[in-house]
Amino acid sequence: METRQIWLKIADSTNAVAWRLWQAGYCRDLWVVALSQSAGVGRRGAHWASPVGGLWASRLLCPARPLEVRSTSWLGLVVALATARAVEEVSHVPVRVKWPNDVVVGTRKLAGILVESRGADGRAQAAVAGVGLNVNLKRSDFPEPLREAATSLYEETGETFSLRAVLLAIERAFQPLYRALRQGDYAPLAAQVRQRLLLVDEQVCVYEEDGKVQRGRFDGLDAEGRLVLDTGQAILYFSSDQVHLRAGGKALEPGSAPGLGTGF
Ligand code: BTN
Repeated sequence: METRQIWLKIADSTNAVAWRLWQAGYCRDLWVVALSQSAGVGRRGAHWASPVGGLWASRLLCPARPLEVRSTSWLGLVVALATARAVEEVSHVPVRVKWPNDVVVGTRKLAGILVESRGADGRAQAAVAGVGLNVNLKRSDFPEPLREAATSLYEETGETFSLRAVLLAIERAFQPLYRALRQGDYAPLAAQVRQRLLLVDEQVCVYEEDGKVQRGRFDGLDAEGRLVLDTGQAILYFSSDQVHLRAGGKALEPGSAPGLGTGF
């Protein structure tokens, strides 16, 4: 059955709209989409610029049985993987997933995912997965500080795409992954994500929230979807909300870590 969709001309944040519907008692699978957002939110509460031309969409998930914690931490990766597959299907632009849940073209960010969940006792009764995908944006549509770091399908191909077609492709790619997630089939999910993951087996820097930088080889993900870093002296594990990941063994100047406190 096709997942329902609500399309709005403008919303504050489609994640917020989805939660308001859930709080009002709506609990079915649903996409909330807005042509623009006045208060789009990125990870760590950052502002997410959302002008007309992008796909700003949130998937409300109301599983019959609450999701375990492990599933919710994989959800962002799974939605990123679905978005990556959909992008390749509609545009043929080759994309990768950058841990924890960005979709990138080369080193430029094409999409970001924000997963939120609500529940009790470590189980999620409902979750909202927000997808911000730069579809038909021109370079001049991006706020100045993001122009180098971000890209769009239009910038990559010179073509414009139907937002509805892109959304349908995401949902099509998402369905089997979500099924596997609910069944707890993490091993095949992990293998599929790993195939797409940027920087695996490479030297990276991990920037922690308190300003600490850890260097080592990105060894992949553990069963909880955490980043595994081999520093040579120790194996360290990082959750997605704690850190930012960057290529190369050389750290940036203190305070200049990209992505910290910004949508990108
Ligand atoms: C990130 O920081 O990379 C995640 C960005 C997520 C943005 C999307 S746009 C649709 C949905 N509504 C929001 O307010 N945020 C998400």
